[in-house]
Amino acid sequence: MRALVYQGPFDVAVKDVADARIEDPKDAIVRITTTNICGSDLHMYEGRTDVEEGKVLGHENMGIVESVGDAVERIKVGDRVSLPFNIACGTCDNCFKGLTGFCLRANPGSAGAAYGYASMGPYNGGQAEYLRVPWADFNALVLPEGTEHELDYTMLSDIFPTGWHGVELAKMQPGETVVIYGAGPVGLMAAHSAAIKGASRVFVVDHQPDRLKLAEQVGAIPIDRSTGDSVERITDLTDGGADRGVDAVGYQAHSPDGTEQPEIVLNELVAAVKPTGGIGVVGVYVPQDPGAEGELAKEGKLAFDYGTFFFKGQSMGTGQCNTKQYNARLRDLITEGVATPGFLVSHELNLDQAAEGYDHFDKREDGWTKVVLHP
Ligand SMILES: NC(=O)c1ccc[n+]([C@@H]2O[C@H](COP(=O)([O-])OP(=O)(O)OC[C@H]3O[C@@H](n4cnc5c(N)ncnc54)[C@H](O)[C@@H]3O)[C@@H](O)[C@H]2O)c1
Ligand SMILES: [Zn+2]
Ligand SMILES: [Zn+2]
Repeated sequence: MRALVYQGPFDVAVKDVADARIEDPKDAIVRITTTNICGSDLHMYEGRTDVEEGKVLGHENMGIVESVGDAVERIKVGDRVSLPFNIACGTCDNCFKGLTGFCLRANPGSAGAAYGYASMGPYNGGQAEYLRVPWADFNALVLPEGTEHELDYTMLSDIFPTGWHGVELAKMQPGETVVIYGAGPVGLMAAHSAAIKGASRVFVVDHQPDRLKLAEQVGAIPIDRSTGDSVERITDLTDGGADRGVDAVGYQAHSPDGTEQPEIVLNELVAAVKPTGGIGVVGVYVPQDPGAEGELAKEGKLAFDYGTFFFKGQSMGTGQCNTKQYNARLRDLITEGVATPGFLVSHELNLDQAAEGYDHFDKREDGWTKVVLHP
């Protein structure tokens, strides 16, 4: 089958690889109709991980069930399914509690498993014609038949639930104000989620005008940090800070001109959220981040200001999204026309154009917000 493989930093290519096949009676094989390039793929693409050469990438997958193993009971050949990026067994202690991003069996000894991802288990990704889905009954979410809402449903495998998770981790209640740092796909999904969940006002902070325009499109108030201090503006527009905040940037925060990484975005977030407010962190921080041991860290510039966080009596939730906790409900919001996360999609390409897609998306070229591949 054809699949996109990692060959080295800034080098991915579509190649012939071994067919995805049933390896366990609980597996299913899914013919991929739609799979997305994610900001998280860029951590590997840019060579910041130990992902092995030849790994098939792609963790945002949906398609049609092609075949099922003997122990699969619920999912049927021909079902249209969305696959959460987390691979989870469904029966370990964490899965039982709904914490499927931290399954104890799918990638023992580490924190969670995913398709096509460095250090997240031996599983190949779905930027390919076919994908092997372990524990298929538990992991596959069945979608309405047909092709309606394809671009909305394709957001169910990762970034829509992840944005929703950010707002959940911040413990937002209807009527509250929320500030979201980062107007990338995840931040925009958090803004869309906060609006659906009844936020009174949603502020989105970034320095990329095209992305801030999309934030406005979902009803958020754009705050362009290249033209002034975001914390001052949010403090002025609220009663001394937003009720809730979401970090949808992570360790790759940078200044508007793109040159330096002056400070982790978390400190700005702590400052922009009111005393006793809640913060949700879905932007990725990694223990092996070179920045964490670099010059900036030595100067104390990447350090989290725990003292201010403590002094303000805030709370914080972190981590990978437990996609399965939300995806059925979010699917129904899409089906009912309440949620329209597909507004993000800027480009639809076929698999053979995937390397091109990575290149444009990685450069964060104007207009390249979210790339969808149709193998
Ligand atoms: N927790 C999870 O389960 C999960 C799932 C998917 C993605 N992620 C992570 O979420 C993060 C965001 O993903 P994305 O695809 O939206 O990435 P992205 O790179 O497309 O978007 C990040 C945005 O942040 C902006 N930005 C940079 N520095 C900033 C700063 N100091 N202040 C405000 N904005 C700033 C950038 O201009 C960009 O628009 C990544 O770290 C990604 O790996 C986490
Ligand atoms: Zn993703
Ligand atoms: Zn499990």
